[in-house]
Amino acid sequence: MERSPLTDTPRLVVISNRVAVPKARGAAGAQGGLAGALHAALKDREGLWFGWSGEESESGRTGNIDTQTNDGVTTATIDLSQRDIEEYYNGYANSTLWPLFHYRLDLAKFERETGKGYERVNERFAELAAPLIENDDVVWVHDYHLIPLGERLRSRGLKNRIGFFLHIPWPATRLFVSLPYHERLVRTMLHYDLVGFQTKEWLDSFLHYCRTELGAEVDEDSGSVTLDGRTTLARAYPIGIDWDHFSKLGETGEARNAQQRMMASTRRRISMIGVDRLDYSKGIPERIDGIGRFFDREPERIRDLVFVQIAPPSREDVQSYQEIRETLEQKCGQINGARSEVDMVPIRYVNRGYSHEELFGFFRASKIGLVTPLRDGMNLVAKEYVAAQDPDDPGVLILSSFAGAALQLQDAVLVNPHSPDDIAHAIRKALDMPLDERKARYEKMVASVRDENVQAWTADFLRDLG
Ligand code: G6P
Repeated sequence: MERSPLTDTPRLVVISNRVAVPKARGAAGAQGGLAGALHAALKDREGLWFGWSGEESESGRTGNIDTQTNDGVTTATIDLSQRDIEEYYNGYANSTLWPLFHYRLDLAKFERETGKGYERVNERFAELAAPLIENDDVVWVHDYHLIPLGERLRSRGLKNRIGFFLHIPWPATRLFVSLPYHERLVRTMLHYDLVGFQTKEWLDSFLHYCRTELGAEVDEDSGSVTLDGRTTLARAYPIGIDWDHFSKLGETGEARNAQQRMMASTRRRISMIGVDRLDYSKGIPERIDGIGRFFDREPERIRDLVFVQIAPPSREDVQSYQEIRETLEQKCGQINGARSEVDMVPIRYVNRGYSHEELFGFFRASKIGLVTPLRDGMNLVAKEYVAAQDPDDPGVLILSSFAGAALQLQDAVLVNPHSPDDIAHAIRKALDMPLDERKARYEKMVASVRDENVQAWTADFLRDLG
């Protein structure tokens, strides 16, 4: 590929498992912040985005790469075989690493075969991506699916700057060591030049592991980790939203229609909203319990409220995701069965995705946003909810203190997502909050969402990597 004559900026090669958001899920933070953020990071610069097409076929084995340019972003994708998807994506990535890194040891499965599949697919990514990488490209690998990829690329002789960013939490050391071969996995991370985490908490856990389990030399101030004569930098870079894009969505007809649609259907009732991938880490059943507790305490307010939960299905072939779906159907059904009237249903539970524009309208029409994950690397829905509010009459964000976003959004009403009492209390506080306080909280939060945006995240990481 030719270099742009106007700039010396090296070409950026991004590698992630997920390249585009599945169509059925729309395109928003709720669908997983990674794909949206990487699209924003790449659209303004010369680059290439390599990863899985999301499709199942045998063609990836024969080296078949599909290259396309859409919306200013060039993607190179490969298909995965049924076995690869089973062992690498549904297996090791989403049945071992995802639950473990989200502190759900009870859901984590440790199978030798899926671990081998994970290594095999990482090797295939390296084999197919390496020839696409030119000498002075900067390479940026993303997320838990591809932890060993940097080491695999190095074994093919790549001397480029290679960085890695983890979009999910890094667990506490005592939890992480439950992973068989944990040391082998982390040693591969030390082949990157720079490793990024969403928050200082996850970074500190990683540094603690490197010091105590690997015996690496760790300098907490600079984040340098030295082992076997090689040094990797590890730092925190909180991801943000594409503020310029998102904040303008309110001007679109689609957003206005969505806002009207929601307001017309709820009439004088106050709407509360939750938007999440259908994932056990998002704390949706616990949120419904909190809402149920609020209704128990203040039954006279049920007629004034409606809760809308949008939850597009995710990773549907993984058993724990099938179970969470059943749990939620039951919980919503129970509350609606007990609390509905012929002309009023308190919970609307929707299993589909919406476009960014529509979500903007729904967020703006909702006086309370509930973002209560049990554990979350960052959570961009919280930031999108804030960005969509009317500055003259902003809604209230109820946010889990266990989401990475809570560090920046301290002016949300922070809750312990495990406690139905805490959630019920936060709902009451939000409903009764005077306009002045809502505005004061909103103004502080929106400043952070605006300034600590996805462009700043990309620039900070790539500056340190370069
Ligand atoms: C999280 C992960 C991403 C992932 C996204 C959607 O945000 O950090 O890596 O892409 O969820 O999940 P999926 O399995 O559909 O890619």
